[in-house]
Amino acid sequence: MKAIEVEGLRKQFDPPKGAVAVDGVSFFIEEGEIFSLLGPNGAGKTTTISMLSCLLKPNGGTARVGGFSITEDPAKVKAQIGVVPQDIALYDDLSGRENLVFWGRMYGMRGQALDTRVDEVLELIGLTDRQNDRVDKYSGGMKRRVNIGVALLHKPRFLYLDEPTVGIDPQSRRSILDGIKDLNAAGMTVLYTTHYMEEAQELSKRIAIMDHGKIVGLGTHEELVKIVGERTRIDLKVDSAAKELSEQWRTLEGVSDVSEPQDGGIRILAMDAGSLMPRLFETARTAGARITEINLAEPNLEMVFLHLTGRALRD
Ligand SMILES: Nc1ncnc2c1ncn2[C@@H]1O[C@H](COP(=O)(O)OP(=O)(O)O)[C@@H](O)[C@H]1O
Ligand SMILES: [Mg+2]
Repeated sequence: MKAIEVEGLRKQFDPPKGAVAVDGVSFFIEEGEIFSLLGPNGAGKTTTISMLSCLLKPNGGTARVGGFSITEDPAKVKAQIGVVPQDIALYDDLSGRENLVFWGRMYGMRGQALDTRVDEVLELIGLTDRQNDRVDKYSGGMKRRVNIGVALLHKPRFLYLDEPTVGIDPQSRRSILDGIKDLNAAGMTVLYTTHYMEEAQELSKRIAIMDHGKIVGLGTHEELVKIVGERTRIDLKVDSAAKELSEQWRTLEGVSDVSEPQDGGIRILAMDAGSLMPRLFETARTAGARITEINLAEPNLEMVFLHLTGRALRD
């Protein structure tokens, strides 16, 4: 079942002259999936999330969240979603628990029901032990977890997270990614945005690559890397006979490209590195040469992004 369906969504700030932040975006999210929007700064990820949260009105296109239109039924959409915004908004002089209680009241929760839910959420975000410390004593990762907790208070069916690991330490990042996977395993449908391809790759089966307001590629990791030809890059160095070897390697089955040797260094693009490796060593031995260095790079989303946009994801 399609939990979220987005069709031709468009946002231009200050029309008719302003920037087109989201330019005809279409995708769907299946119930129970973690869907990632991967793109560099300025791609339009936050603007997309804001429209799907009914905080910004689109200038074009439609979207349905849990069957409800974001423009016709915003209240019903909002009731079903939890949103973890890019910028953390918490009261520094309140404790983690007090922040959750505050936001719970904003959602209309009261009394025992609120207390119980806050206990559950603190457990979920792993802050039960530190719940009574003031938020200004928390690390960036802990604040981020309170932020996620706020989004979970009303037991949403869908969770949106907008770059939740930016600016936090590796350990907190780990616990946030694991937390998202746990929530998903318990049935949560997740929309995740990031500019880190490793995160999209780890969390999601299906990934949409976004750039300049458009989705430039969408599919599973395998489908996306096929765009760059599914080739593994093998960089190696030989101690002699580089020219001769590069010519021999070019004729081997499964090799799609071999560079001109440079200081004994040769780059090979291959379809199936596993079966090729022993043959590379064998040819070298026969030629009386030794492979002194070898480096494999599987095709990744970075290469896909570069291929699709001509730029690096990290620029
Ligand atoms: N409130 C705004 N007014 C005008 N332009 C905006 C506004 N918010 C975002 N933009 C522009 O829209 C584009 C997409 O921004 P954003 O959705 O924040 O991208 P991302 O979240 O992928 O970094 C950027 O060029 C940004 O400068
Ligand atoms: Mg953003």
